[in-house]
Amino acid sequence: MFGFKKKNNKQSEIKVDESLRHVAFIMDGNGRWAKKRGMPREYGHKKGAETMKNIVRYCGSIGINCVTVYAFSTENWKRPEKEVNAIMELLGQYIDYLYTVMDKDDIQVHFLGDKGRFPAELKERLEKAEKDSASHHKILNVALNYGGRDEIVHAVNRLIAQGKTEVTEHDIEENLYTAHCPPPDLIVRTAGEIRTSNFLMWQGAYSELYFTDVLWPEFSESDVDLAVKEFYKRTRRFGAVV
Ligand code: FPP
Repeated sequence: MFGFKKKNNKQSEIKVDESLRHVAFIMDGNGRWAKKRGMPREYGHKKGAETMKNIVRYCGSIGINCVTVYAFSTENWKRPEKEVNAIMELLGQYIDYLYTVMDKDDIQVHFLGDKGRFPAELKERLEKAEKDSASHHKILNVALNYGGRDEIVHAVNRLIAQGKTEVTEHDIEENLYTAHCPPPDLIVRTAGEIRTSNFLMWQGAYSELYFTDVLWPEFSESDVDLAVKEFYKRTRRFGAVV
């Protein structure tokens, strides 16, 4: 179960239990947030990256041991070059930031997606951060050049390369980018869109979905609390009768 504890008589603190092991976020609304302020979209991504740091830290503090964030999709390459370059620059800065927190926050980072599309130097830095954090325990998955369909195709191709002519669900699961973690219990999408946009298609089959109008740069700890409270109101049946 989970309980609420008053902290400093101000903020209520939620602690989750093992029924909420993995929360995944579709971080939408950076562009709209910036536009509302008359600023370029890149400004929204910069603020969005700060929100991402804060929300990942907060999730860890309330006992969520696995967090996934959708930072860049296989489709996002279609965006203007200036915007793609700005996100890549933020990614470089984010890797530096990870080195300042991975030990103290016990973060084991994984980058989900095909790293082959990134420049060689960036790809090496992504792989090094995964290696350098491998002994830690709280899983952070950053989906980059990630697409759910692409991930399933990638898994099947790996199985074909292993010589399989027939596969099981277990075989596919073992070859997804998320083989190291449980499926998401809760998927949260910000900014009012009611869809999952090619995110964790396989793993999300039984995830609880939570949609909020809050734009990602404004998404806060109290918004996480609302999503968690909503999760605990749901009855999960996984196709069975409970
Ligand atoms: C969706 O908002 C957001 C993205 C496609 C990128 C998410 C990126 C970040 C949160 C920051 C980058 C962080 C790293 C570490 C790479 P949108 O641009 O689609 O917003 P809109 O729907 O309002 O236009």
